[in-house]
Amino acid sequence: MADTTSVLDVSPVIPVVTIEDPQHAVPVARALADGGVRIIELTLRTDTALTSLKAIANEVPDILVGAGTILTPGQADAAVAAGAQFLVSPGVTPSLLDHMLSLEVPVLPGVATVGEVMAVLERGLDTMKFFPAGPAGGPSYLAAIGAPVPQVTFCPTGGISLATAPDYLKLPNVRCVGGSWLTPRAAVESGDWQQITELAREAAALA
Ligand code: 3PG
Repeated sequence: MADTTSVLDVSPVIPVVTIEDPQHAVPVARALADGGVRIIELTLRTDTALTSLKAIANEVPDILVGAGTILTPGQADAAVAAGAQFLVSPGVTPSLLDHMLSLEVPVLPGVATVGEVMAVLERGLDTMKFFPAGPAGGPSYLAAIGAPVPQVTFCPTGGISLATAPDYLKLPNVRCVGGSWLTPRAAVESGDWQQITELAREAAALA
């Protein structure tokens, strides 16, 4: 597995992006890059997600594109074959974690409890997605986890907004946050790339 810090250091916010129509993929990626956000977690939540992933990987080289919502080893393989440069899962099972760690790209496994954090740590990985961040306990939870496992760095995701992101980013064990607010569904479907660029600009300024 490649080093995850290369993923966490790109932007203070990793946009979690869901695209229905692959025609929207490249303009969305360009709009984010124009706003200064050069990373995307593209979720595998649509039938066409791998087509969108491939288009971004091939046509927007200045963006680091990863695949999110990885639930199975087969999805991890398909995402890497389509050009995913990193993998994100909402949670982990032993077989999924083993398989993702056997691949050549950085992985961010999702955790929500101290036991899950310890299980991932045992496998030698100290960077994780904390999901769903808001409902699972928010910044105070991550601050508390910093006492027993200060060596773990998190990318909290789930229920975070431009307004609440700073509460996470100021924690010593948080390097970036994830969120879907940069690419509202209505903006994507109506082709309002300018709005996405503005949202990206605001997010990039959180650095
Ligand atoms: C994710 O998969 O990380 C979440 O769906 C993103 O959560 P949000 O929509 O609350 O930002």
